[in-house]
Amino acid sequence: MPSIIRVEDARKVYRIAQKDPGLKGAFKALFRPRYTDKVAVDGINFNIDEGEIVGYIGVNGAGKSTTIKMLTGILVPTSGEVRVLERDPHRDRVANARDIGVVFGQRTQLWWDLALIESLNTISKLYEVPAARYKQLLEEFNETLNLKELLHVPIRSMSLGQKMRAELAATLIHEPKIVYLDEPTIGLDLIVKERIREFIKQQNREKRATVILTTHDLGDIEELCKRVLIIDAGKLIYDGPLSTIRERFGKYRTITFETAAKVGNYHLPEGVEMEVEEERKLVLRFDRTITTASRVAANLMQQIEVSDFSLTEPDLSSIIKQIYNGALKQAESLVEPVAAPVLEGAR
Ligand SMILES: Nc1ncnc2c1ncn2[C@@H]1O[C@H](COP(=O)(O)OP(=O)(O)O)[C@@H](O)[C@H]1O
Ligand SMILES: [Mg+2]
Repeated sequence: MPSIIRVEDARKVYRIAQKDPGLKGAFKALFRPRYTDKVAVDGINFNIDEGEIVGYIGVNGAGKSTTIKMLTGILVPTSGEVRVLERDPHRDRVANARDIGVVFGQRTQLWWDLALIESLNTISKLYEVPAARYKQLLEEFNETLNLKELLHVPIRSMSLGQKMRAELAATLIHEPKIVYLDEPTIGLDLIVKERIREFIKQQNREKRATVILTTHDLGDIEELCKRVLIIDAGKLIYDGPLSTIRERFGKYRTITFETAAKVGNYHLPEGVEMEVEEERKLVLRFDRTITTASRVAANLMQQIEVSDFSLTEPDLSSIIKQIYNGALKQAESLVEPVAAPVLEGAR
């Protein structure tokens, strides 16, 4: 079966009108407009198969939302091609809309003054959800999103977390095949985040919904995604399993020693730095390209009286930082092939 999302050399250039300050500038812009081009997405390629949960990550301004907008048909690529369920999502917007659900974390698509249940009723009619199915789904969401307490509350009086739960229900009430979530947990506290992550997982597991999640919350990614795409300055710099990122780019590991007595004098071997020193505990960070955990352990055990030690997995956020900082370029041969930049311009 072909991939349900296909992106080929997609590029998006925003054209921004320039205007000098003041009235004179306004006239000038009117008669002889000047533009600058902003390349937001710079020739990206990827395919997504049914049932995947893919994390789409990158720093602010990297091009995540622009990509999502091209996939949902809100924006047309300047060049290249986007196919969603074999359709052009912009040209076939209406058909496409039935099969997708979109949540933009920072703004609501619900009617501000209506109670949630009224919004849901309206949406289910728009999408022609059969009455019996609608009832079933409402019950299901009552449970998984704890909606009951929210049904009669207007959106305007909801907290951020409540709004997101409402938003998810509204987005998924027509059981879309593909769900785009753009920063769904932004600004939420941990408990709400957890609930939302559980809900997303369940939709994927039980309904085989394909999920594309943009986020800069690496907790979302760690809990939900096996595969990640990393975008940086409009270019895909990584497409592959999350586990590979950890293994290949986690340059540093942390090793913790407990000692029976007070930590005495010691010196650190090459490639090792001290992170924390307490009376009976020593936390060291070592560079995996220089040394190994067993060498560090053996070395330290000759110097101090160790009663226990443990190795910690590298923290994903520090790994991503390393990738942005160019670790990727040094290790390019290790990465799955990514798109070569498209040469043709947008002008
Ligand atoms: N409507 C727009 N007009 C001009 N530039 C834009 C517009 N939307 C986004 N951009 C620019 O395009 C780049 C990518 O933005 P965006 O896709 O929103 O990134 P992200 O979602 O990763 O933060 C940024 O430099 C942003 O300033
Ligand atoms: Mg964004």
